[in-house]
Amino acid sequence: MKIAVIKETLPEEKRIAISPDIVSRLKKWDFEVLIEQDAGLQAGFGNADFETAGATITSSAQEACQNADIIFKIWAPLPEEDKLFHKGQTIIANFQALAYKERLTDYAKLGLRCFALDLIPRISRAQSMDILSSQSNLAGYKAVIDAVAALDKAVPMMMTAGGTIAPAKVLVLGAGVAGLQAIATAKRLGAQVYASDVRPQVKEQVESLGGRFLNVKTAENFETDGGYAKETSAEYQKKQNEAVAEQLKATDIAITTALIPGRPAPRLISKEMLKTMPYGSVIIDMAAAAGGNVEGAENGKTVEINGIKIIGNSNLAASVPNSASMLFAKNIFNFIAPMYNPESRELVFNFHDELISATCVCQDGKLTGAAK
Ligand code: NAI
Repeated sequence: MKIAVIKETLPEEKRIAISPDIVSRLKKWDFEVLIEQDAGLQAGFGNADFETAGATITSSAQEACQNADIIFKIWAPLPEEDKLFHKGQTIIANFQALAYKERLTDYAKLGLRCFALDLIPRISRAQSMDILSSQSNLAGYKAVIDAVAALDKAVPMMMTAGGTIAPAKVLVLGAGVAGLQAIATAKRLGAQVYASDVRPQVKEQVESLGGRFLNVKTAENFETDGGYAKETSAEYQKKQNEAVAEQLKATDIAITTALIPGRPAPRLISKEMLKTMPYGSVIIDMAAAAGGNVEGAENGKTVEINGIKIIGNSNLAASVPNSASMLFAKNIFNFIAPMYNPESRELVFNFHDELISATCVCQDGKLTGAAK
């Protein structure tokens, strides 16, 4: 079988959906791997690294894709990339399937079979294939690093002959995969960390990392059976706003990660609440692309309101492209590995497997699964 990997075309996207390690593994299956020239450079993988692992470097994306059976991508193809693909090919990528449903129709019309790894069910067996987790984990780490770089204060407590510096206070809103890694990273740097989430069972996880959980008392349940958050009631929001506003008064860095799949991000910090934050504090809004947890945040931009820097960035994994590409590539490999048939030396997609049926959004010209 032939696998193609091409350069990502979204601006600022430095990742690539393969690593030299995964090329070697695919070669052991007797697969041919075609990689567009320089596609890995921004992630720290040179053409020679891929060639040494057994890949063939092509002079264009067109040449890589024309005879490929399967294409690995970070993001689903943009409209200008559609011409690269043809009927019968399979694409495995992050399709943001819940947010961009209308684009899935275009892929179906092209006769493509598409596996949206963003729809992988949250079951134990799928953990090693979960691109949202692997990328969110790195993004949570990078959010803290970026916030600290933008802060005009030191983070750890320092007792020096000249005086004592108090530890910086960090507030993490949304303690899922990204939030928990942000808590762990901020703790490692010596910050005092506080966190809030609508799923009360997260409290234990926050505390096990050394964070303090902001309790918002409620008898309601805001967790879906799939482990994701639901939208909260007006009553809950009011109580949560009060708790967050109070905490913001003493917050140097806020990292917001709260998301609700397929819905706009919940608004957790209003312009009014921002007024309570100390001058010079920094907010990283990781939900900016979904409308933002912070009023006034813009994805891909830094805006300053009342002396507070608000950095909107929903693609922080792209700023640690080497580590992020390695994990993304491993996720794809783990997804296809159970489908490998050593006798025919081919991938045979078993649609009775819930991981395959849940992630397939189109095939044979029709929308399937969650895309229907
Ligand atoms: P996410 O990226 O959808 O949301 C981030 C966090 O924001 C979540 O913790 C969510 O509860 C929180 N949130 C939503 N609305 C909020 C609000 N109004 N206020 C405060 N917080 C709010 O979620 P993520 O990070 O992808 O993880 C969700 C859960 O799934 C976690 O418990 C995680 O451990 C679990 N998980 C399970 C996997 C598996 O078993 N294969 C793989 C990955 C995650």
